[in-house]
Amino acid sequence: MRLDHFVAKASGLSRKDAKRAIGRGAVSVDGSPCRQAASQVAPTQTVCLDGQPLSPPGPRYLMLNKPVGVVSSTGDEPHPSALSLIPAELRPDLRLVGRLDLDTTGLLLLTNDGQWSHRVTSPRRRCPKTYRVTLADAIAPTALEQLRQGVELRNDPQPTAPAEVIQLGPRSIELTLVEGRYHQVKRMLAAVGNRVVGLHRTRIGDIQLDPALAPGEFRPLTEAEVGSVGGT
Ligand code: URA
Repeated sequence: MRLDHFVAKASGLSRKDAKRAIGRGAVSVDGSPCRQAASQVAPTQTVCLDGQPLSPPGPRYLMLNKPVGVVSSTGDEPHPSALSLIPAELRPDLRLVGRLDLDTTGLLLLTNDGQWSHRVTSPRRRCPKTYRVTLADAIAPTALEQLRQGVELRNDPQPTAPAEVIQLGPRSIELTLVEGRYHQVKRMLAAVGNRVVGLHRTRIGDIQLDPALAPGEFRPLTEAEVGSVGGT
């Protein structure tokens, strides 16, 4: 997007006033003053007006590698929110797409596009979510079969939908669910007499956690990743 367009859209200035601000050197891109109104900026670049970062106009889609100890809600818990790991200029209107427990790590999506978020989280769309699960005890083949077929959770009469289960080791499985019930993975493993000691989400639909992201790091989604969540 052209710089003058970005500044006008993001600040509410008219295009003419945005050009004037750029002309007088009030605008910087990634820390360097930029006086070329026609220069191109990417949504990932930081544009400041009079030293204040501007939120990029339009929809934003991010993936975060959630570390242990941050919460997925935005309340005032004693623990920091996942949103606090995102720079202030990208935060306005940003919401988490679904939740992970305090001690769960891995792929968390964030967006300011409510319809897109709904398409990922709506139970009707059955968007698959994949977890790497580390268990307290070795898992028996019968338990794997129960998880595949569906199990009854405590205080929930409706059995879970069939799940994909791959055994990775004696105490480690990969589990893909098309539902998102409260603490579902932990409750499913409890239902087969085991206990989750480590939970890491690796994939949502066709969006895979980028292995280059260290815990706490984020990056914008690519157009292909955004588009992989089907429309309507
Ligand atoms: N299931 C759980 O039990 N916890 C999570 O954080 C995600 C899925």
